[in-house]
Amino acid sequence: MGYIQEELAKRNIPDFLVFNDGTPVTDKADWEKRRKEIIDLLANEMYGHIPPAFPFTIEEKVFSDKHLGRKLDYSQNILKFDTPYGHGEFTFHTFFPHGKTNVPTFIFMAFKPNEPWNYCPVESIIDRGYGVIMAYHAEISSDDGDFTNGIASALPREVYNCGKISLWSWAATRLMDYAQTLDFVDKTKIAMIGHSRLGKTTLWTVANDTRFSFACANCSGCSGDALARDTVGETVEKIYNRFPYWFVPAYEKYKNNESSMPFDQHFLLASIAPRKVCTAAAVLDAWADPQAQFLSCNAASPAYELLGLKGIVCDDRPTVPGDTYHEGNIGHHLRHHGHTLSLYDWNKYMDFIDKN
Ligand code: GCU
Repeated sequence: MGYIQEELAKRNIPDFLVFNDGTPVTDKADWEKRRKEIIDLLANEMYGHIPPAFPFTIEEKVFSDKHLGRKLDYSQNILKFDTPYGHGEFTFHTFFPHGKTNVPTFIFMAFKPNEPWNYCPVESIIDRGYGVIMAYHAEISSDDGDFTNGIASALPREVYNCGKISLWSWAATRLMDYAQTLDFVDKTKIAMIGHSRLGKTTLWTVANDTRFSFACANCSGCSGDALARDTVGETVEKIYNRFPYWFVPAYEKYKNNESSMPFDQHFLLASIAPRKVCTAAAVLDAWADPQAQFLSCNAASPAYELLGLKGIVCDDRPTVPGDTYHEGNIGHHLRHHGHTLSLYDWNKYMDFIDKN
């Protein structure tokens, strides 16, 4: 046995190619059914359910074709909706290369309101022919335990049993509805991208919404792409004690008890198959546990192999900074430095999407 299989065997992670009733998952038709079971499991035990769609309107507040020497069209908009429980709205921004068609597009859940000028290097993205639809997660609903603000008041937790990650996913799914209405967007190349807690949100959104062709999860770590069993980084206890509101209360029972989880994070990556997922780790980001992130890509690969596709294609050794694995349907890179979403990462994700 080589390095990867030995490490996976040590962790004793559950097999996702088995139905809840114990029968094996053997073909493509089985996979679609099993995928739904996995999503239900992760919803019930970790993230909660993403609330259903409601009709919405878009109010355009700003449109400008004057940015970056007119190579960029920028807009600022408000998405508004009503549910039986109340009114919700949030702002989003769009950045598209001026006058282009068939534009591959990122739906970007941003960490900060002013992200285009740091975590989102707009000019470089536009120069590669991509567009971005961006919303700031904490405006959608605050990044804390208050479930009365933003869209949370219209989508009550008591009714929908969701944590904040699922609420942010709901918003990203509405941005996907909006992207479907833009005739210059290449609908076969819509990716979601997010960093860290929003990398977790990215994986969960794309798992649920099959209109996304790609998930680009940056440094998502614990409760994102990193295997929880035997982690040397953040644990379920640590994340749940600080951020219980990202999840549902059912997740708490796995604190210091990861081995009892009927899943591990490779279930989440696998539930995106056959669509493509690209993850990234940073060598100084020990909290996210880079090797547990890499191993999880390997543990998810059997979902693709069942469908006759390649999962991750990689060397059988621990990753080192500079490694990039883009041959299969699961992409992964490990870079130098620490916890951030850099231009280097964006370029890697665009390389991966360009190839596919
Ligand atoms: C904290 C948290 C991580 C999370 C990170 C982030 O460090 O423990 O799980 O990924 O914040 O979102 O930057």
